Amino acid sequence: YILEECQNLNIPVILGVSEGAAKYMGGFNTITGMVKGLLKDLNITIPVCIHIDHGSSFEVCKKAIDAGFTSVMIDASRYELKENIKITKEVVDYAHERGVSVEAEVGHIGGTEDNHTSQETNATLEDCLTLYNSTKIDSIAPALGSVHGFYKGEPNLDFATMKIINDNLPIPLVLHGGTGIPNEKIEKAIKNGISKININTDLQ
Ligand code: 13P
Repeated sequence: YILEECQNLNIPVILGVSEGAAKYMGGFNTITGMVKGLLKDLNITIPVCIHIDHGSSFEVCKKAIDAGFTSVMIDASRYELKENIKITKEVVDYAHERGVSVEAEVGHIGGTEDNHTSQETNATLEDCLTLYNSTKIDSIAPALGSVHGFYKGEPNLDFATMKIINDNLPIPLVLHGGTGIPNEKIEKAIKNGISKININTDLQ
């Protein structure tokens, strides 16, 4: 349905799958095989990106790339920045040689995803710059108050820092935890530099 609607609107689309959901669906090769089949059977001609969301290690991202994913997120945000950079750089080196783009996370997005619950820690401009300059990632997901899953009350997004990060980095910003963010805050996030919005819980 999403592919058909994007084809009708003639807009490119990113199909994202989390590591946990990929396992549930049978694995990375099953997913890329299925998408390739859909593109053919539905005569889809718009650009379609197949993206792995929150890849937890270099090995997982490598597996996804080898199976034909065209974009990966390496989420090493649970480690100290130095270790996050080391793992992210390894993924970037492997991915860029193969024409695959890489998203990474700074700070920590809270909430629950893939049965994993975590505390949030907001990103800083300094950490975003250090991660970008050390790895040359293609997009960045700075944790700025959004959480995965449903919100308890209103989401409290740090738009000021979002703008500062966007003004200082030459790559697109990603907003995770799209479910439950009211439209006016989504619009404000876009105005402050967000280019990709992840929505999972709502779709499920
Ligand atoms: P939600 O499940 O809150 O929409 O978050 C999706 C997400 O950020 C996936 O990375």
